[in-house]
Amino acid sequence: MNIFDFNKMKIEKRNISMITSYDYWSARLLSETEVDCLLVGDSLAMVMHGFPTTLSATIEMMELHTAAVARGAPEKWIVSDMPFLSVNRGLTFAMDCVDRLMKAGAHSVKIEGLRGHEEIIEKIIAAGVPVMGHLGLTPQSIHLLGGNRVQGKDDKTSLQLSSDAKRLEDLGCFALVLECVPRAVAAQLAKELVVPVIGIGAGDAVDGQVLVLQDLLGLSGQFKPKFLRRFAQGETWFKEATQRFHKEVLEKTFPSTNESYT
Ligand code: KIV
Repeated sequence: MNIFDFNKMKIEKRNISMITSYDYWSARLLSETEVDCLLVGDSLAMVMHGFPTTLSATIEMMELHTAAVARGAPEKWIVSDMPFLSVNRGLTFAMDCVDRLMKAGAHSVKIEGLRGHEEIIEKIIAAGVPVMGHLGLTPQSIHLLGGNRVQGKDDKTSLQLSSDAKRLEDLGCFALVLECVPRAVAAQLAKELVVPVIGIGAGDAVDGQVLVLQDLLGLSGQFKPKFLRRFAQGETWFKEATQRFHKEVLEKTFPSTNESYT
């Protein structure tokens, strides 16, 4: 996968699949699948570190996790999230973050929102770094949005979404993540844009889908928003295996003679 494939796939109506990966072992396994690209999302602050929101992701965390993913999946296209406020602290700070993520092994960065940092997006692209936009429910603005709510539900906000998306395309973004918007709004947007729209909670009429790995594997407890399909019962599998280990240690049936050195 390279940057040209994103547009090619949209033209050919071949949906793009993107999954989050935060560590070496999941990246290694994903590298052996046909999944198109990996996202080192700032959701890692919640999933891997137990913070309540993505606001706690730092550039140090993003850099460390990006490097691990790049070692596990050297052939995959990697998108890394620019963390909270990294594009609002001036050009030097933003460029330093981009530098760290790209040197850690990312091929592109994802930036939430548009307003207040248009110029920074333009400069990052002008510096030769592909940028993926992210509109709709932008978790870094969770408190301003009043929680995890579907965005673009009325005419005013859906028009705003459409105008922001076109602006991101004009600035040179190569793709756009659209999170939690009504299916019809997402479908219209995907039609209007030349670049692919990758949805999460945006229905099926877009150009691709992204999910958090732990969510799709059924490893995220009670978290089950309407848009989420669990492709495996990961928690059951995980708990059964570790509980069996515990039981067999107590029963002294593990290790067997074959599993011991003579
Ligand atoms: O951080 C993340 O996991 C994301 C996806 C939800 C798109 O941005």
